[in-house]
Amino acid sequence: MANEHVAPDRNLALELVRVTEAAAIAASDWVGRGDKMAADKAAVDAMREFIATVPMDGVVIIGEGEKDEAPMLFNGERVGNGSPPHVDIAVDPIDGTTLTSLGRGGAVAVIAVAESGAMFNPGPCVYMDKLAVGPVAKGRVSLELSITENLLAVAKAKGTSVDKITAIVLDRPRHEGIIDEIRGAGARVHLIGDGDVAGAIATAWPESEPDILFGIGGTPEGVIAAAALAGLGGEIQGRLYARDESERDQALALGYDLNRILSTSDLCGGEHSFFAATGITEGELLRGVRHLTTGIRTQSMVTRSATGTVRFVDTYHKFGLHY
Ligand code: FBP
Repeated sequence: MANEHVAPDRNLALELVRVTEAAAIAASDWVGRGDKMAADKAAVDAMREFIATVPMDGVVIIGEGEKDEAPMLFNGERVGNGSPPHVDIAVDPIDGTTLTSLGRGGAVAVIAVAESGAMFNPGPCVYMDKLAVGPVAKGRVSLELSITENLLAVAKAKGTSVDKITAIVLDRPRHEGIIDEIRGAGARVHLIGDGDVAGAIATAWPESEPDILFGIGGTPEGVIAAAALAGLGGEIQGRLYARDESERDQALALGYDLNRILSTSDLCGGEHSFFAATGITEGELLRGVRHLTTGIRTQSMVTRSATGTVRFVDTYHKFGLHY
């Protein structure tokens, strides 16, 4: 039967990596050229071409925006080859458009897929207050607690002291208070210019330094990070953040609760979610796209929530062939 629910297949994760590889390679032509829009367009075009080949019937929940402004990968667009499973999709062809345009490290191409209805739709809510941790501190932290209380909770969970804890935070004036409190509590601050999807992942990856992510960032990025953390066994919490009265009124009119703490599963739930990321520029977790004499090398991370499997995919793409 056409509408019969079929759980997403495990191979989906490995199909998705081709989508982020294509986006990253396309974006890499624009690294350091000072043109964010061109980089984004190249990544979107490549992502869209490859997403069409993935065996799924997907609806874009988080895309490039509304249809009129985004001709491709717009919210509500149907993507995939149309076969089951029915899934929700969140894409960010470049998380770190500024990093890419300035030739700075840490930009990634990302995609998340979950069962139909399992993804939070942020609507007009652009920003979210976030907190993310890895598996060890999962369940021990809360947006209801103060920064200091959360740092103490992470230190306790890790069997260490607060001075050994590193918090990752987007470098923004709005985070001055958070940064002061982290340092005041005795912990270290790792500031990033952009890219809080990779920042959230870093808290859950054992080889990365950061233990906890704090601060206000994009809501779409929060949903995508939730898919990644579901696969990595970590946790993210979010609380929608309105920048001004008009954003607040708009969100409330649409029924969004700005006080609610959204859990990882509120943001990206279901039994089966998948996440893929490919490095565009060099990062702590993933290498950037490298143009070699005979081809292109990419590095990606792929996760699957049902099993907690994390794969690193190192790919050599021969010139002239389609990824
Ligand atoms: P873009 O690449 O889409 O510009 O997003 C980069 C980013 O740093 C996200 O990772 C983060 O969630 C958001 O921007 C923060 O928003 P702002 O730059 O407005 O503080």
